[in-house]
Amino acid sequence: MGQTSIKPADRAALLGFSDIVKIRNRVLEMKAGGARVLQLEGGEPFINTPDFVKQAMVRALEENQTRYAASSGIAPLLEAIRAKLARKNRIEVSTQDIIVTAGGAHGLFCSFQACVNPGDEVIFFAPYWTPIKDHVSYAGGVPIHVPWPEVRGKSDITEALNARLTKKTRVIYVNTPANPTGDVLTPAQLESIARFATANNLTVISDEAYEDLLYEGDHISIASFPGMFERTFSVYTLSKSFAMTGWRVGYIVADKPFMEFLRKLVLVSVNGVSTPSQFAAAAAVGHPAGFFDPIREEYRKRRDLLVRGLNDAGFRCPAPAGAFYLFPDVRERLGADSWKAMETLLAKTKISSVPGIVLGPEGEGHLRMSFSISVEVLEEAVAALKTL
Ligand SMILES: Cc1ncc(COP(=O)(O)O)c(C=O)c1O
Repeated sequence: MGQTSIKPADRAALLGFSDIVKIRNRVLEMKAGGARVLQLEGGEPFINTPDFVKQAMVRALEENQTRYAASSGIAPLLEAIRAKLARKNRIEVSTQDIIVTAGGAHGLFCSFQACVNPGDEVIFFAPYWTPIKDHVSYAGGVPIHVPWPEVRGKSDITEALNARLTKKTRVIYVNTPANPTGDVLTPAQLESIARFATANNLTVISDEAYEDLLYEGDHISIASFPGMFERTFSVYTLSKSFAMTGWRVGYIVADKPFMEFLRKLVLVSVNGVSTPSQFAAAAAVGHPAGFFDPIREEYRKRRDLLVRGLNDAGFRCPAPAGAFYLFPDVRERLGADSWKAMETLLAKTKISSVPGIVLGPEGEGHLRMSFSISVEVLEEAVAALKTL
């Protein structure tokens, strides 16, 4: 290519490229070269998309539901979401307060764009899902971390939040159950966040991607607390709950002033989500009662298997309360440098993982491993850990 003076826009510098994707590409290269890799670095549900969801897509195609849909979402999906929000999340809204997005990532992108002004400080718990810092930076915001260990086990977490409060604090991002630590915020912790947000007039972005994967108790949505709906973007995705990562369907629930902006953002960015995917999503959201019970037990079995294997191998690894990741402290066995620890583990055991530092400086000395994988592979990983 010849040299030209053509350059991308300056805001390209605001975005990083996911290190998790770099690791995935490396693993795929190794596999293409014939190597066996025990892939624990991913973020995919281990189950397949349920048949009743696939059949709804087939029906939609047969009925030629293949044209532009209403840009905020098709009516049957919006109604299924409204009923689910009332039933599960205790958020009572009308379909006007809901907008369908191209997955959770798009929902988060639109939410951060809709409420962060340049220079605004955005508080979130760390380590965090890597794209969050990009969403904050790309909106012109300044990331402010609260380390998870500072709030873990405490019921009133106001002190940790107040310590980060400045005149520029505008938004708090909350992710429960959390990627990568599996932390689940308790009702008392959520209440302190709600009080903190109200007292300081903050907007809340509540990322509930793992709402159906809790191993104890029920999921609680912060927007269900009195006075919180008005200041909260509740962001959901079908990716993890229904093993629909490739279908790209999610949704946001928010009050009118936010929703007006969100409608414009969705329109200008994707002009509505794939129509057949939305018909499939309506079937998923209207799933039969008890749908998640056996799935959750399968996840729990996998969690317990890998937690035991890691602890037996000398890693310090608590059992997470939600989501499908483990976040062991590997310092004693593999050293404090998590990139090196990831490489050593891969070379010696063929287990791929994500270095904790990729998920924020607070993650150093840890690795993220997904237990959302077949029991056979997990058993192989546990056996390999014994040889370390
Ligand atoms: C915390 C969290 N939020 C949101 C998402 C977005 O998922 P998707 O864009 O597939 O809906 C993910 C995916 O890994 C996640 O871990």
